[in-house]
Amino acid sequence: MKTIGLITGGGDAPGLNAVIRAVVKTAIGVYNLKVVGVEDGFEGLLSETKARELKPEDVRGLLPRGGTILGTRNRGRFVVHDTGGAVKPEESYREAIANIGRLGIDGLIVVGGEGSLGIGLEFDRRGVPVVGVPKTIDNDLACTELTFGFLTALDIATEALDRLHTTAASHDRVMVLEVMGRHTGWIALHSGIAGGADVILIPEIPFTCEAVAEKIYERERCERQFSIVVVAEGSSPVGGQEIYQDAGDRQHAPRLGGVGNFVAQQIERITGKESRCVVLGHLQRGGSPNAFDRMLASNYGSCAVRALVRGERGRMVALHAADIITVPLQKACANLKTVPAESQLVRTARDLGISFGAPDEARHHGKEVC
Ligand code: F6P
Repeated sequence: MKTIGLITGGGDAPGLNAVIRAVVKTAIGVYNLKVVGVEDGFEGLLSETKARELKPEDVRGLLPRGGTILGTRNRGRFVVHDTGGAVKPEESYREAIANIGRLGIDGLIVVGGEGSLGIGLEFDRRGVPVVGVPKTIDNDLACTELTFGFLTALDIATEALDRLHTTAASHDRVMVLEVMGRHTGWIALHSGIAGGADVILIPEIPFTCEAVAEKIYERERCERQFSIVVVAEGSSPVGGQEIYQDAGDRQHAPRLGGVGNFVAQQIERITGKESRCVVLGHLQRGGSPNAFDRMLASNYGSCAVRALVRGERGRMVALHAADIITVPLQKACANLKTVPAESQLVRTARDLGISFGAPDEARHHGKEVC
């Protein structure tokens, strides 16, 4: 192993630059390797290629910086969305692998979520050694307790809930916060508990608007005239579908968005209470990583270099019981890590009186303490 290629793929997340810094410092400082940074995700491996050598001076001051200095893409020529399924275009892999050879890259570190790591796995299967680093604010990757970026997004969502409390209380309103979480409700669940929400809606537990309204009535009976709802963008009503703002096409995956407004409108219709929706969106992804994510991203980056140098391939670094281990990439990409509907944290939320808007919710959650 003389040259490591480094790719950041998928949606950005706080801590990407911390990984880049750790990879460069470890690869050069400890193993005297060369690091080639591929720009704009896997797209940088196609056509003329967009790649440059990363030197120690390129990563100075990067630790607190949001985004990725390499650029990233969450769409492109490696995945074509066809009749609802994702197709892997063989031609793109052939071209990229030839270019990897031309760039002199002996192994790849791929920093990404389920989509990018899935592409990384395909490279590994075609003979390019790959070690993955788990990234996504959604925290939905299997085989790791945490992805970096999640805890920063959680801080941002929690601060938003704190701020919504004071305006909701002043106006006696229902404030609905829509947070990210395409298929899983980790951000909504954790921030909902940390930020004192009254209702948490997640994709794993379909809701009814009547059950949500019931929680608001329950609070009114305790003379609490305002309520806070946090909803993950991928949540849907019982028997209904997720709400999209863009249906997508061959090049673009469908984009979720709109469930927050739907919930706010339905609450207003059923209860007559003035309701407002705030979509937190990409504020959850931008800006500086918090201290834990800087540490975790750095640890992942260094461990990924060590794994590649040890000869590991087709693996992903992962957090397990406060230790970094490596797990098979294939296993990590096989299924998403969803919130178990019967988990301890869901139970705790219900014990605190938080409603998940399930049809039989009243049976589950604790009473509003008047
Ligand atoms: O995967 C992370 C994520 O933040 C999702 O929660 C969200 O649906 C998606 O990315 C949005 O990505 P973009 O707007 O960049 O296409």
